[in-house]
Amino acid sequence: MHRIPTSDFSPGKVLARSVYTPSGELLLPEGTRLTERLRPVLTEWGVTEICVEDERSGHTKAAAVPKGTAGPEPVRLAYSRAVSLVAKGMGELRQGRPVSWRRLGEESGELAMTVAFEPGILEYLHRLHCGEDYTFEHSVKVGVLAALLAKWLGLAFTDQVEVAVAAVLHDAGKALVPPEILSKPGRLTPEEFEAAKAHSTAGYDLLAAEYGPDALPPRVALEHHERMDGRGYPRGLQGREALLASRIVAVADVYDAMTSDRVYQRGQPEYAVLAHLRESGFSQLDPRVTRAFVERLVYRTLGRLVRLSNGQLGRVVLVNAQEPGRPIVAVGNSLIDLRQHRDLSLVG
Ligand SMILES: [Fe+2]
Ligand SMILES: [Fe+2]
Repeated sequence: MHRIPTSDFSPGKVLARSVYTPSGELLLPEGTRLTERLRPVLTEWGVTEICVEDERSGHTKAAAVPKGTAGPEPVRLAYSRAVSLVAKGMGELRQGRPVSWRRLGEESGELAMTVAFEPGILEYLHRLHCGEDYTFEHSVKVGVLAALLAKWLGLAFTDQVEVAVAAVLHDAGKALVPPEILSKPGRLTPEEFEAAKAHSTAGYDLLAAEYGPDALPPRVALEHHERMDGRGYPRGLQGREALLASRIVAVADVYDAMTSDRVYQRGQPEYAVLAHLRESGFSQLDPRVTRAFVERLVYRTLGRLVRLSNGQLGRVVLVNAQEPGRPIVAVGNSLIDLRQHRDLSLVG
């Protein structure tokens, strides 16, 4: 670790110590990978010095993320290999051929773990693409996010791996849902909606046949659309009746579905999705899981250009994990704290 003037940092460096505002609020947590977007934020708060990891340390060994592409090549390869395994398995099932879910889960889960523990992955996970159908790429991204969540929640490494495997397989049952329903732009008819929802029980049946009825992968396939208020499906479980792994996958699943660009709709802004998750943590999703998730991801919104509901453009200069949709925004020479200005909101 060494101390450098803020003006000297190069993108890709990792903070060895958290950075605070002059009034003592957390600005950037330790472990944040610095990007050009964060430079004006540090300047704005008059931060003159920062502590960064040494080149020798694990954090800085990884290649910097090349501009315009998503992630270092080994990460892109691991990601696309995992996606193609899922695509192949689900494709074979659609053609009525047998699939070894255990092998598929082990291989793609291990690859998802490799991607998950790459330093700085959260900076570009949403930009990793390999041209496959949304369902296959989504499966692997949920695997990556669920592995990270399991780690943040303090689960043992072997449990993290099990969660990653179950997460990659969570939508296996979609192989039995007609593709035209899965990719239909716009609203589904009630019948189509029921057919889409059947993927959770279909996934359970497929995975239970190989893993046994109580194993993690079939349980997660069955339970990842359950909600704590009992309004989920298929069984309307309440509270913590669903396994922790299922509650972890539920958060990762909602986040990826809401942030991803689809054929028929653009992904929603990060702050809006995190605000939604935080809200859902009071009713539908596990509050401990959503809190861990939002606290780790909210810093991704720092430094972003945003538009306020009064039309002004500004830059996010301080985030707030309690209300991810209400950061402090620098507009011209003034700072607007959206927690104080409840009449204003972010609109894009
Ligand atoms: Fe699902
Ligand atoms: Fe999903």
